[in-house]
Amino acid sequence: MQEKLDQIKLDALAALEGIDNKETLDAWQVKYLGRSSTIMDVFKSLGTLSQEEKPLVGKAANLVKIALETASGDKENQIKQQRISQALVSEKIDITLPGRRAVSGGLHPTTQTLREIYRVFGDMGFQISLSREVETDQYNFQMLNFPPYHPARDMQDTFFLRSDEDRGDDPLMLRTHTSPGQIHAMLEHTRIYPDNPPPMRIILPGMCYRYEQITARSEIQFNQVEGLAVGKGITFGDLKGTLINFARRMFGQDANTRFRASHFPFTEPSAEMDVSCFLCGGNGCSVCKGAGWLEILGCGMVHPTVLKNGGFDPEVYSGFAFGMGPERITMMRHHIEDIRYFWANDLRFLEQF
Ligand code: PHE
Repeated sequence: MQEKLDQIKLDALAALEGIDNKETLDAWQVKYLGRSSTIMDVFKSLGTLSQEEKPLVGKAANLVKIALETASGDKENQIKQQRISQALVSEKIDITLPGRRAVSGGLHPTTQTLREIYRVFGDMGFQISLSREVETDQYNFQMLNFPPYHPARDMQDTFFLRSDEDRGDDPLMLRTHTSPGQIHAMLEHTRIYPDNPPPMRIILPGMCYRYEQITARSEIQFNQVEGLAVGKGITFGDLKGTLINFARRMFGQDANTRFRASHFPFTEPSAEMDVSCFLCGGNGCSVCKGAGWLEILGCGMVHPTVLKNGGFDPEVYSGFAFGMGPERITMMRHHIEDIRYFWANDLRFLEQF
């Protein structure tokens, strides 16, 4: 009997040897450990044995059964392990594949120019101040020394916010320039310091609106950066020094500048500042239209009436002011021929900056 059991075990283990998948292992279990397997037949035949033989054979058969079960369990683990390592190879994810690039935006060219302007004036001690875009006639014109019907108003065609009949004495409008911010800023300053106000130096950036025909050179909406310095003993020399330094930092250390007499109701004297054309160096080209110079801003000494309107005593205080268009400056620097690109939202344009 022991021989028969050994043989059963030998056969079963030999059959198990070559098995490498779950299905044949299942079949093997049915064949060698199932109800009609040879080892089960041995258990079933125990009843026919003698009292002495029964426990011996029973124990030996049990050992075989346990050995086969253990071997089958080991095999099962082995198959599982194999499946896992195969899957690790065949289902491998190639993490070296580059990911999809996120599209990153950029700053609008005008914003870039604005930030450069802030930096230059910030270095010279100017603070940035903001003023409203909706103004009254009072602030946009009258307090800046443009009385009603003054011809200088014609240069700044205006968007009014009410119809002609409803405008009343002090019409609301979209500001045509950042200069009304001068009045607001001075009034705030002299309200805080009613006696002997300390000097102030600010720039006022922001959007302005003019009711004009849209062309390659003029938009109905554009930025300006206003500058204002008020204090005791401020001269035209201070204005020139400040603006020449600005031009050099903005357009290069060898940029030449010139001041031409001009007129604004709120400055006296008034001037326009030109920079030597950075493209041709002043010889004349298509950018400067042969002139060698590019106009970049208007400026002047703050008119005594305007100082008074801001709460300063013009006998004691003086100041200078200037105003420039960052879109214009951006156009010159990058040789942009049409101001309409700034609002067209065309990525082919914007992506170049
Ligand atoms: N406000 C003027 C304009 O829009 C520019 C300017 C500002 C001129 C300050 C002189 C001083 O044309």
